[in-house]
Amino acid sequence: MEFVHTPVMLEECLEALNIQPKGLYVDGTLGGGGHAGEILKRLAPAGTLLGTDRDRDALEAARRHLEALARQLDEERGNHGSFRLVKANYSQIPDLIREYSLPAPNGILLDLGVSSFQIDNPERGFSYLKDAPLDMRMDQEESRTARDIVNEYSESELARILRDYGEERFASFIARRIVLARQEKPLETTGQLVEVIRRAIPVKYQKNGGGHPAKRSFQAIRIELNQELTGLEQCLEDLIDTLAPKGRLAVISFHSLEDRIVKNAFRRAEDPCICPRDFPRCVCGAKSRGKVISRNPILPGEEEQESNSRSASAKLRIFEKS
Ligand SMILES: C[S@@+](CC[C@H](N)C(=O)[O-])C[C@H]1O[C@@H](n2cnc3c(N)ncnc32)[C@H](O)[C@@H]1O
Repeated sequence: MEFVHTPVMLEECLEALNIQPKGLYVDGTLGGGGHAGEILKRLAPAGTLLGTDRDRDALEAARRHLEALARQLDEERGNHGSFRLVKANYSQIPDLIREYSLPAPNGILLDLGVSSFQIDNPERGFSYLKDAPLDMRMDQEESRTARDIVNEYSESELARILRDYGEERFASFIARRIVLARQEKPLETTGQLVEVIRRAIPVKYQKNGGGHPAKRSFQAIRIELNQELTGLEQCLEDLIDTLAPKGRLAVISFHSLEDRIVKNAFRRAEDPCICPRDFPRCVCGAKSRGKVISRNPILPGEEEQESNSRSASAKLRIFEKS
């Protein structure tokens, strides 16, 4: 299957990263390499791009795209920046920079969540619109799949993740239905799970334009399985520490839970003081690590939202290190 993914807020991301041709830039979520390719185009031979993704198919797609682009740049202008792609979690970026003896990066981009390629590839089991084995792993080398969560989590654990990660108002009804269904036989496919969810949600709420009835539950199970929010705040702090002075961290999030974590991490990095508000001056000694560039999140323009529906919920936030 061909890797198709339209990079979200491309121009805004490039501007956010404020690319210097001889700098080091990191794309922590390569996907098909859409953003990474545009970064590479702006690098001189002395510039470097480091890219990570935990999905081996994404990594290979990004590699093909960047190698073809490098050949094209060689033909057009006789040179290109160097790039190094690694199958890794973006939380490992500080370790990779140390391991490869790279300088502190001038910019890091995270485009969180899943790619269209992952969603559209039925074999991956991310989509509630296509019947497939319950998989949903971003990293195909992990052994645990969505099937394990759906068939092994207790009813209260299921209700918790559906509520916390899916903001699903019918979380406890759905958890109950899942447990009843799996008592008859294990749930094996996305189609079976969709049917169980559909039966748990009152019909009038399915018709009120709130999207597909399984949308929130699938998001929740995917986030839990791939531990998408676990440690994200600490990871953002570590990435800020890794940046060079004036280096930028740009993060695109796709739902309110993610965005809240990014917003709070950036605010805390800007103003980490924990002194009571009525203290005349700071005594805790915590030092600001830089400033939030985007007070409000940057949103895709109308045209982009119309041409790429996936961009509609995207929010870009930028932090600049001191
Ligand atoms: C929205 S897509 C990125 C698309 C990319 N910017 C492009 O232009 O094609 C998100 C990618 O991040 C990867 N990903 C998600 N969480 C990750 C993590 N913790 N570490 C590394 N990669 C991750 C996913 O596998 C997916 O390929």
